Amino acid sequence: SDEECDQRIQAAKEKLGERCVILGHHYQRNEVFKHADVSGDSLKLSKYAAESKAEYIVFCGVHFMAEVSDILSRPEQITVLPDLAAGCSMADMANRANVERSWKELNTLINADEQVTPVTYINSAADLKAFCGQHEGIVCTSSNAQQVLEWCFEKREKILFFPDEHLGRNTGYRMGIPLEEMVVWDFNQPMGGLTKEQIENAKMILWKGFCSVHQMFQDNQIDDFKKKNPNAIVVAHPEANFEVCEKADYVGSTEAILKTVREGKANTQWLIATELNLVNRLKEEVKDQGKQVHFMSPTVAMCSTMFRTDPQHLAWVLENLAEGTVVNQIQVNDDDKQMAKKALENMLSLF
Ligand code: 13P
Ligand code: SF4
Repeated sequence: SDEECDQRIQAAKEKLGERCVILGHHYQRNEVFKHADVSGDSLKLSKYAAESKAEYIVFCGVHFMAEVSDILSRPEQITVLPDLAAGCSMADMANRANVERSWKELNTLINADEQVTPVTYINSAADLKAFCGQHEGIVCTSSNAQQVLEWCFEKREKILFFPDEHLGRNTGYRMGIPLEEMVVWDFNQPMGGLTKEQIENAKMILWKGFCSVHQMFQDNQIDDFKKKNPNAIVVAHPEANFEVCEKADYVGSTEAILKTVREGKANTQWLIATELNLVNRLKEEVKDQGKQVHFMSPTVAMCSTMFRTDPQHLAWVLENLAEGTVVNQIQVNDDDKQMAKKALENMLSLF
Protein backbone atom coordinates (compact mmCIF):
# COMPACT_ATOMS: atom_id res chain seq x y z
CA SER A 1 0.00 0.00 0.00
CA ASP A 2 1.01 3.66 -0.32
CA GLU A 3 1.19 3.91 3.51
CA GLU A 4 3.60 1.01 3.74
CA CYS A 5 5.63 2.52 0.89
CA ASP A 6 5.84 5.83 2.79
CA GLN A 7 7.38 4.09 5.77
CA ARG A 8 9.78 2.10 3.63
CA ILE A 9 10.82 5.20 1.66
CA GLN A 10 11.45 7.07 4.92
CA ALA A 11 13.45 4.20 6.38
CA ALA A 12 15.60 3.86 3.23
CA LYS A 13 16.12 7.64 3.10
CA GLU A 14 17.31 7.66 6.71
CA LYS A 15 19.69 4.82 6.04
CA LEU A 16 21.13 6.56 2.98
CA GLY A 17 21.33 10.01 4.63
CA GLU A 18 23.28 12.59 2.64
CA ARG A 19 24.53 9.95 0.21
CA CYS A 20 21.25 10.26 -1.67
CA VAL A 21 19.15 13.18 -2.89
CA ILE A 22 15.64 12.87 -4.33
CA LEU A 23 14.74 15.45 -7.00
CA GLY A 24 11.05 15.94 -7.81
CA HIS A 25 9.63 17.72 -10.84
CA HIS A 26 6.52 19.84 -10.22
CA TYR A 27 4.34 17.44 -12.24
CA GLN A 28 4.96 14.51 -9.93
CA ARG A 29 1.96 13.16 -8.08
CA ASN A 30 1.65 14.08 -4.38
CA GLU A 31 2.49 10.62 -3.08
CA VAL A 32 5.92 10.92 -4.70
CA PHE A 33 6.41 14.70 -4.59
CA LYS A 34 6.23 14.80 -0.79
CA HIS A 35 9.40 12.67 -0.58
CA ALA A 36 11.49 15.01 -2.76
CA ASP A 37 14.38 16.82 -1.07
CA VAL A 38 14.34 19.43 -3.83
CA SER A 39 11.55 20.32 -6.27
CA GLY A 40 11.72 22.49 -9.34
CA ASP A 41 11.41 23.04 -13.06
CA SER A 42 13.84 21.50 -15.54
CA LEU A 43 16.43 24.28 -15.22
CA LYS A 44 16.44 24.35 -11.43
CA LEU A 45 16.71 20.58 -11.18
CA SER A 46 19.50 20.39 -13.80
CA LYS A 47 21.47 23.01 -11.93
CA TYR A 48 20.91 21.16 -8.69
CA ALA A 49 22.12 17.89 -10.24
CA ALA A 50 25.25 19.69 -11.50
CA GLU A 51 26.05 21.04 -8.03
CA SER A 52 24.93 18.15 -5.84
CA LYS A 53 27.53 16.26 -3.81
CA ALA A 54 25.27 13.24 -3.29
CA GLU A 55 26.48 9.84 -4.42
CA TYR A 56 23.01 8.91 -5.71
CA ILE A 57 20.61 11.27 -7.48
CA VAL A 58 17.13 9.75 -7.62
CA PHE A 59 15.24 11.68 -10.28
CA CYS A 60 11.47 11.71 -9.92
CA GLY A 61 10.77 13.17 -13.32
CA VAL A 62 11.11 11.85 -16.86
CA HIS A 63 13.91 10.18 -18.81
CA PHE A 64 15.48 13.26 -20.44
CA MET A 65 15.77 14.92 -17.01
CA ALA A 66 17.67 11.96 -15.59
CA GLU A 67 19.95 12.00 -18.64
CA VAL A 68 20.73 15.68 -18.01
CA SER A 69 21.51 14.81 -14.40
CA ASP A 70 23.90 12.06 -15.55
CA ILE A 71 25.58 14.41 -18.04
CA LEU A 72 26.07 17.26 -15.59
CA SER A 73 26.94 15.34 -12.44
CA ARG A 74 30.44 14.06 -11.66
CA PRO A 75 31.45 10.67 -13.19
CA GLU A 76 31.31 8.84 -9.86
CA GLN A 77 27.76 10.03 -9.14
CA ILE A 78 24.87 7.76 -10.09
CA THR A 79 21.50 8.93 -11.43
CA VAL A 80 18.50 6.69 -11.00
CA LEU A 81 15.07 6.97 -12.67
CA PRO A 82 12.53 5.06 -10.52
CA ASP A 83 10.49 3.85 -13.54
CA LEU A 84 12.40 3.47 -16.80
CA ALA A 85 9.16 3.82 -18.76
CA ALA A 86 8.78 7.44 -17.63
CA GLY A 87 9.58 9.14 -20.94
CA CYS A 88 8.26 12.31 -22.59
CA SER A 89 6.13 12.01 -25.72
CA MET A 90 7.28 15.40 -26.96
CA ALA A 91 10.96 14.45 -26.60
CA ASP A 92 10.23 11.37 -28.73
CA MET A 93 8.93 13.55 -31.59
CA ALA A 94 12.48 14.35 -32.69
CA ASN A 95 15.22 11.80 -33.00
CA ARG A 96 18.81 11.95 -34.14
CA ALA A 97 18.16 10.33 -37.54
CA ASN A 98 15.33 12.77 -38.37
CA VAL A 99 17.30 15.79 -37.24
CA GLU A 100 20.46 14.74 -39.10
CA ARG A 101 18.44 14.18 -42.28
CA SER A 102 16.70 17.53 -41.88
CA TRP A 103 20.02 19.30 -41.33
CA LYS A 104 21.40 17.75 -44.53
CA GLU A 105 18.29 18.80 -46.44
CA LEU A 106 18.56 22.31 -45.07
CA ASN A 107 22.15 22.41 -46.26
CA THR A 108 21.01 21.72 -49.80
CA LEU A 109 18.77 24.82 -49.68
CA ILE A 110 20.92 27.23 -47.68
CA ASN A 111 24.30 27.11 -46.00
CA ALA A 112 22.91 25.78 -42.70
CA ASP A 113 26.34 25.12 -41.20
CA GLU A 114 27.08 28.84 -41.36
CA GLN A 115 23.64 30.39 -41.11
CA VAL A 116 21.68 28.23 -38.67
CA THR A 117 22.13 27.49 -34.97
CA PRO A 118 20.43 24.29 -33.79
CA VAL A 119 18.61 24.72 -30.48
CA THR A 120 17.09 21.83 -28.62
CA TYR A 121 14.57 22.22 -25.87
CA ILE A 122 15.81 20.33 -22.81
CA ASN A 123 12.87 17.96 -23.42
CA SER A 124 14.91 15.88 -25.85
CA ALA A 125 17.16 12.84 -25.86
CA ALA A 126 20.86 13.18 -25.01
CA ASP A 127 21.97 12.43 -28.59
CA LEU A 128 20.03 15.48 -29.82
CA LYS A 129 21.75 17.64 -27.24
CA ALA A 130 24.98 16.09 -28.57
CA PHE A 131 23.97 17.08 -32.12
CA CYS A 132 23.66 20.68 -30.91
CA GLY A 133 27.03 20.44 -29.16
CA GLN A 134 28.60 19.29 -32.44
CA HIS A 135 27.06 22.13 -34.46
CA GLU A 136 27.82 25.04 -32.11
CA GLY A 137 24.26 24.90 -30.84
CA ILE A 138 22.70 25.05 -27.44
CA VAL A 139 19.99 23.70 -25.13
CA CYS A 140 17.17 25.82 -23.68
CA THR A 141 14.50 25.30 -21.05
CA SER A 142 11.08 26.90 -20.75
CA SER A 143 12.50 29.42 -18.29
CA ASN A 144 15.44 30.67 -20.36
CA ALA A 145 14.40 30.24 -24.01
CA GLN A 146 14.51 33.97 -24.74
CA GLN A 147 18.06 34.50 -23.43
CA VAL A 148 19.18 31.40 -25.32
CA LEU A 149 17.65 32.61 -28.60
CA GLU A 150 19.26 36.04 -28.13
CA TRP A 151 22.64 34.31 -27.73
CA CYS A 152 22.00 32.42 -30.99
CA PHE A 153 21.01 35.50 -32.98
CA GLU A 154 24.25 37.22 -31.96
CA LYS A 155 26.14 34.50 -33.84
CA ARG A 156 23.97 33.44 -36.77
CA GLU A 157 20.86 34.73 -38.52
CA LYS A 158 18.62 31.63 -38.25
CA ILE A 159 17.62 29.01 -35.71
CA LEU A 160 16.44 25.42 -36.14
CA PHE A 161 14.39 24.80 -33.00
CA PHE A 162 13.30 21.32 -31.87
CA PRO A 163 11.27 19.44 -30.74
CA ASP A 164 8.58 21.90 -29.51
CA GLU A 165 7.05 24.12 -32.18
CA HIS A 166 5.07 26.10 -29.58
CA LEU A 167 7.88 27.04 -27.22
CA GLY A 168 9.84 28.18 -30.26
CA ARG A 169 7.03 30.29 -31.70
CA ASN A 170 5.87 31.75 -28.39
CA THR A 171 9.41 32.80 -27.49
CA GLY A 172 10.28 34.13 -30.93
CA TYR A 173 7.09 36.21 -31.11
CA ARG A 174 7.70 37.75 -27.70
CA MET A 175 11.16 38.76 -28.95
CA GLY A 176 9.54 40.63 -31.85
CA ILE A 177 9.95 38.09 -34.65
CA PRO A 178 6.88 38.28 -36.92
CA LEU A 179 4.87 35.06 -37.35
CA GLU A 180 5.64 35.03 -41.11
CA GLU A 181 9.35 34.69 -40.27
CA MET A 182 8.76 31.49 -38.29
CA VAL A 183 8.08 28.43 -40.44
CA VAL A 184 7.21 24.88 -39.44
CA TRP A 185 9.53 22.10 -40.58
CA ASP A 186 7.48 18.93 -41.07
CA PHE A 187 10.09 16.17 -40.91
CA ASN A 188 7.67 13.71 -42.55
CA GLN A 189 7.89 15.66 -45.80
CA PRO A 190 10.86 16.15 -48.11
CA MET A 191 12.59 19.45 -47.31
CA GLY A 192 10.29 19.81 -44.33
CA GLY A 193 7.46 20.66 -46.74
CA LEU A 194 9.03 24.10 -47.28
CA THR A 195 10.39 25.97 -50.29
CA LYS A 196 13.85 27.49 -50.57
CA GLU A 197 12.27 30.94 -50.49
CA GLN A 198 10.37 30.19 -47.26
CA ILE A 199 13.59 29.01 -45.61
CA GLU A 200 15.56 31.99 -46.87
CA ASN A 201 12.98 34.40 -45.46
CA ALA A 202 12.65 32.62 -42.10
CA LYS A 203 14.43 33.55 -38.90
CA MET A 204 13.16 30.51 -37.06
CA ILE A 205 12.56 27.01 -38.42
CA LEU A 206 10.31 25.21 -35.94
CA TRP A 207 10.20 21.44 -35.64
CA LYS A 208 6.66 20.08 -35.85
CA GLY A 209 6.49 18.71 -32.31
CA PHE A 210 4.21 19.37 -29.35
CA CYS A 211 3.29 18.34 -25.83
CA SER A 212 0.27 16.05 -25.69
CA VAL A 213 -0.74 17.58 -22.35
CA HIS A 214 -0.41 21.27 -23.20
CA GLN A 215 -2.07 20.89 -26.60
CA MET A 216 -5.34 20.32 -24.73
CA PHE A 217 -5.55 23.97 -23.68
CA GLN A 218 -7.50 26.16 -26.11
CA ASP A 219 -8.08 29.90 -26.13
CA ASN A 220 -11.88 29.55 -26.12
CA GLN A 221 -11.50 28.07 -22.62
CA ILE A 222 -10.00 31.41 -21.58
CA ASP A 223 -12.85 33.34 -23.26
CA ASP A 224 -15.50 31.21 -21.53
CA PHE A 225 -13.89 31.58 -18.12
CA LYS A 226 -13.39 35.33 -18.52
CA LYS A 227 -17.04 35.82 -19.41
CA LYS A 228 -17.94 34.62 -15.92
CA ASN A 229 -14.82 35.91 -14.16
CA PRO A 230 -13.67 39.05 -16.03
CA ASN A 231 -10.88 39.82 -13.53
CA ALA A 232 -9.37 36.36 -13.58
CA ILE A 233 -5.63 36.19 -14.14
CA VAL A 234 -4.51 33.66 -16.75
CA VAL A 235 -1.16 31.89 -16.52
CA ALA A 236 0.15 29.47 -19.16
CA HIS A 237 3.17 27.28 -19.77
CA PRO A 238 4.93 28.18 -23.06
CA GLU A 239 4.30 24.66 -24.41
CA ALA A 240 0.66 25.77 -24.82
CA ASN A 241 -0.28 27.00 -28.28
CA PHE A 242 0.20 30.56 -29.59
CA GLU A 243 -3.42 31.69 -29.09
CA VAL A 244 -3.46 30.54 -25.45
CA CYS A 245 -0.14 32.21 -24.69
CA GLU A 246 -1.20 35.45 -26.39
CA LYS A 247 -4.37 35.60 -24.29
CA ALA A 248 -2.56 34.70 -21.05
CA ASP A 249 -1.49 37.41 -18.62
CA TYR A 250 1.68 35.51 -17.72
CA VAL A 251 3.62 32.82 -19.56
CA GLY A 252 6.37 30.86 -17.83
CA SER A 253 7.96 27.62 -16.71
CA THR A 254 6.45 25.49 -13.96
CA GLU A 255 8.62 27.23 -11.36
CA ALA A 256 7.61 30.66 -12.72
CA ILE A 257 3.91 29.71 -12.68
CA LEU A 258 4.14 28.79 -9.00
CA LYS A 259 6.02 32.00 -8.16
CA THR A 260 3.54 34.17 -10.07
CA VAL A 261 0.51 32.78 -8.24
CA ARG A 262 2.21 32.63 -4.83
CA GLU A 263 3.31 36.26 -5.09
CA GLY A 264 0.16 37.49 -6.84
CA LYS A 265 -2.58 39.63 -5.29
CA ALA A 266 -4.77 38.00 -2.62
CA ASN A 267 -8.49 37.36 -3.21
CA THR A 268 -8.13 36.71 -6.92
CA GLN A 269 -9.20 34.08 -9.44
CA TRP A 270 -6.48 32.28 -11.43
CA LEU A 271 -6.85 30.16 -14.54
CA ILE A 272 -3.84 27.93 -15.13
CA ALA A 273 -2.78 26.14 -18.30
CA THR A 274 -0.37 23.47 -17.19
CA GLU A 275 -0.33 19.93 -15.83
CA LEU A 276 -2.99 18.86 -13.35
CA ASN A 277 -0.83 17.68 -10.45
CA LEU A 278 0.90 21.05 -10.22
CA VAL A 279 -2.40 22.91 -10.44
CA ASN A 280 -4.10 20.78 -7.78
CA ARG A 281 -1.25 21.28 -5.30
CA LEU A 282 -1.14 25.01 -5.96
CA LYS A 283 -4.89 25.28 -5.51
CA GLU A 284 -4.60 23.84 -1.97
CA GLU A 285 -1.54 25.88 -1.13
CA VAL A 286 -2.96 29.34 -1.88
CA LYS A 287 -6.61 28.94 -0.96
CA ASP A 288 -6.03 30.46 2.51
CA GLN A 289 -4.87 33.67 0.79
CA GLY A 290 -8.28 33.85 -0.85
CA LYS A 291 -6.79 32.86 -4.21
CA GLN A 292 -8.96 30.52 -6.23
CA VAL A 293 -6.99 28.46 -8.67
CA HIS A 294 -8.78 26.83 -11.63
CA PHE A 295 -7.50 24.29 -14.10
CA MET A 296 -8.00 25.42 -17.69
CA SER A 297 -8.93 22.27 -19.53
CA PRO A 298 -12.42 20.80 -19.17
CA THR A 299 -10.81 17.38 -19.59
CA VAL A 300 -8.06 15.90 -17.46
CA ALA A 301 -4.71 17.11 -18.77
CA MET A 302 -2.25 15.02 -16.86
CA CYS A 303 1.20 13.89 -17.90
CA SER A 304 0.81 10.13 -17.97
CA THR A 305 4.54 9.48 -18.12
CA MET A 306 5.29 11.72 -15.13
CA PHE A 307 2.54 9.74 -13.40
CA ARG A 308 4.40 6.49 -13.95
CA THR A 309 6.67 7.23 -11.02
CA ASP A 310 4.78 5.91 -8.04
CA PRO A 311 5.71 5.34 -4.38
CA GLN A 312 6.23 1.65 -5.09
CA HIS A 313 8.97 2.30 -7.66
CA LEU A 314 10.51 4.95 -5.43
CA ALA A 315 10.59 2.58 -2.43
CA TRP A 316 12.08 -0.15 -4.61
CA VAL A 317 15.00 1.94 -5.94
CA LEU A 318 15.75 3.49 -2.54
CA GLU A 319 15.73 0.19 -0.68
CA ASN A 320 18.08 -1.27 -3.27
CA LEU A 321 20.43 1.70 -2.99
CA ALA A 322 20.35 1.42 0.81
CA GLU A 323 21.46 -2.23 0.40
CA GLY A 324 24.23 -1.20 -2.02
CA THR A 325 22.50 -2.31 -5.25
CA VAL A 326 21.96 0.18 -8.06
CA VAL A 327 18.82 -0.35 -10.12
CA ASN A 328 17.48 1.73 -13.02
CA GLN A 329 20.65 3.73 -13.49
CA ILE A 330 20.57 6.23 -16.37
CA GLN A 331 23.90 6.34 -18.18
CA VAL A 332 24.53 8.38 -21.29
CA ASN A 333 27.32 7.00 -23.50
CA ASP A 334 30.62 8.89 -23.32
CA ASP A 335 30.54 10.41 -26.83
CA ASP A 336 27.03 11.80 -26.49
CA LYS A 337 27.80 12.90 -22.94
CA GLN A 338 30.76 15.01 -23.96
CA MET A 339 28.95 16.78 -26.81
CA ALA A 340 25.66 17.14 -24.96
CA LYS A 341 27.53 18.67 -22.05
CA LYS A 342 28.98 21.27 -24.39
CA ALA A 343 25.46 22.31 -25.49
CA LEU A 344 24.19 22.31 -21.90
CA GLU A 345 27.18 24.32 -20.71
CA ASN A 346 26.59 26.87 -23.46
CA MET A 347 23.18 27.36 -21.83
CA LEU A 348 24.37 27.32 -18.22
CA SER A 349 27.14 29.83 -18.98
CA LEU A 350 24.47 32.43 -19.76
CA PHE A 351 23.29 32.52 -16.12
P1 13P B 1 9.49 23.05 -16.90
O1 13P B 1 10.93 23.20 -17.23
O2 13P B 1 8.73 24.33 -17.00
O3 13P B 1 9.34 22.41 -15.56
O4 13P B 1 8.81 22.14 -17.99
C1 13P B 1 9.09 20.80 -18.15
C2 13P B 1 8.02 20.11 -18.86
O5 13P B 1 8.13 18.99 -19.26
C3 13P B 1 6.79 20.84 -19.07
O6 13P B 1 5.90 20.05 -19.78
FE1 SF4 C 1 6.74 15.80 -21.87
FE2 SF4 C 1 4.45 17.17 -21.98
FE3 SF4 C 1 4.88 15.41 -20.00
FE4 SF4 C 1 6.23 17.72 -20.08
S1 SF4 C 1 4.03 17.46 -19.79
S2 SF4 C 1 7.08 15.70 -19.66
S3 SF4 C 1 6.49 17.97 -22.31
S4 SF4 C 1 4.70 14.96 -22.21
